[in-house]
Amino acid sequence: MSIHISARPEEIAPLMLLSGDPLRAKFIAKEFLSAARLVSETRNCLFYTGQYKGKNISVGASGMGCPSIGIYSYELYTEYQVDTIIRIGTCGAYHQELQLFDLINVKEAVSESTFALHAWGIKESVIGCQGKIYDTINSVATVQERMLHCGAIHSSDVFYSNQAGFPPLALQHDCLAVEMESFALFANAQHCQKNAACLLTVSDLIAAKKKISPEQREKALLPMIQLALDASISEAAV
Ligand code: HPA
Repeated sequence: MSIHISARPEEIAPLMLLSGDPLRAKFIAKEFLSAARLVSETRNCLFYTGQYKGKNISVGASGMGCPSIGIYSYELYTEYQVDTIIRIGTCGAYHQELQLFDLINVKEAVSESTFALHAWGIKESVIGCQGKIYDTINSVATVQERMLHCGAIHSSDVFYSNQAGFPPLALQHDCLAVEMESFALFANAQHCQKNAACLLTVSDLIAAKKKISPEQREKALLPMIQLALDASISEAAV
């Protein structure tokens, strides 16, 4: 039991998927895991543990933004036996060649956030994915013939703003897309010497002002969920 997660230490698996939305975690547990059990519902931030293709795996929610994923990932890394977290989320595309539903494996998270500095004294505004799970995801995607973009993304602290144009830091690092959590996840993993990756589905085209409809959303995320689960168990095998 940690401050924000009520599961007992042994009730969360070493490998886990974290989605922003608790109901997405519930959906994944119900649709993809066998013998899935709800192990924490503190603050309605749901965590489930079950099996995928015979391997133990947990799936839970991070909430939105760096502060929220910062809390959950730190407790998972330090108070549970979690070695590897794959964040699965959605993003808004900055790059024009990206299409709705495209998948991105995040190599680096770029952010104006002071999270890493204030938490761990990390001064850089670019933090890479941690460990070999990023490579495992790329290998599994190749085997499954899934198209995957790889590169830097922008972890923004703001969803709504009055700023016109793309943020300077994102332009400077040629960020493919924007989301709000990877930077804190990667910072915590780096500090705790654990593994972290982030897979994103493009849900918005920022310049073209197009987005996936709420009805499309659940189905749109299936390829990403499948790839994250297959990469997890492939990582567990080595
Ligand atoms: N901004 C930040 N996070 C997001 C977006 C966005 O436009 N779309 C999906 N996640």
